[in-house]
Amino acid sequence: MRDLNEDTITQEVLARQANAGDARLKEIMTSLVQHLHSFAREVKLTEAEWFQGIQFLTQTGHMCDDERQEFILLSDSLGLSMLVTALNNRKPQGCTEATVFGPFHVEDAPHYESGEDLGQGVKGLPLYVNGRVTGFDGKPVAGAAIDIWHADGFYDVQYADNPAARGRGVMHSDAQGRFYFKTALPASYPIPHDGPVGKMLEALNRHPWRPAHVHFMIQAEGYERLVTHVFRDGDTYLDSDAVFGVRNSLIADWIEHSPGAAPDGLTLDTPFYTLDFEFVLNPAAGSAARKAA
Ligand code: BEZ
Ligand code: FE
Repeated sequence: MRDLNEDTITQEVLARQANAGDARLKEIMTSLVQHLHSFAREVKLTEAEWFQGIQFLTQTGHMCDDERQEFILLSDSLGLSMLVTALNNRKPQGCTEATVFGPFHVEDAPHYESGEDLGQGVKGLPLYVNGRVTGFDGKPVAGAAIDIWHADGFYDVQYADNPAARGRGVMHSDAQGRFYFKTALPASYPIPHDGPVGKMLEALNRHPWRPAHVHFMIQAEGYERLVTHVFRDGDTYLDSDAVFGVRNSLIADWIEHSPGAAPDGLTLDTPFYTLDFEFVLNPAAGSAARKAA
């Protein structure tokens, strides 16, 4: 087909990919081409603007390496990550809601027994977390693997001195579904904004901050994997999270205590905090628990 114009080009592109062997790929690419072309038509995209867009995507790619994933930040800050999370984590009411994974999870974090300090020198006042994992039926989930990570303003991997793991670790729930650990009070922090995504946020008059939170990824046989955070009530950024990840059900009261006896038996001369949270897992499709529900 020759002499394509603004009215005929979309159909020709779709026809050219109509024989894709993978039906799902065809579905995705058909929709993508339609939406991209509609977008260009709708905003009457100029050549200079599209060239600027290509430069932006090029810089985003150049900013990526094993430690920095600028495309994830782009997806997060445009709300796309949270949309994909919401689409893929519909659960019955009462199950703990999922939120964004983010770029700071590390595979093979150190293992801890319940009660241990996974802060390992992370900055902040002491925080004692008391968690419980249950199924939708209220029964405790024993032996769940709980991967935990949080920032003290930065994640350990963002520090130039490349420290040993701080503020992250993996532990398992006990027979009552319980797990508990000590760390330090997380602070709110800006998503990395020294690259093209930061420039984009600035141009859009948006701030890069996320409210204070702890990340949890919980996996147990017979249940759907849960990737979530627990946020701190009262944080300035709860209603303007740079990556749109806050859900009301994930906001908890992190209780402040005066100096004195702490849950681990230590007598502290600083204030400290405690956080209690119950994580309710959705039974996996086909599992006995799902059939019984
Ligand atoms: C995080 O919570 O760690 C995070 C999520 C999205 C972008 C940047 C950081
Ligand atoms: Fe985070």
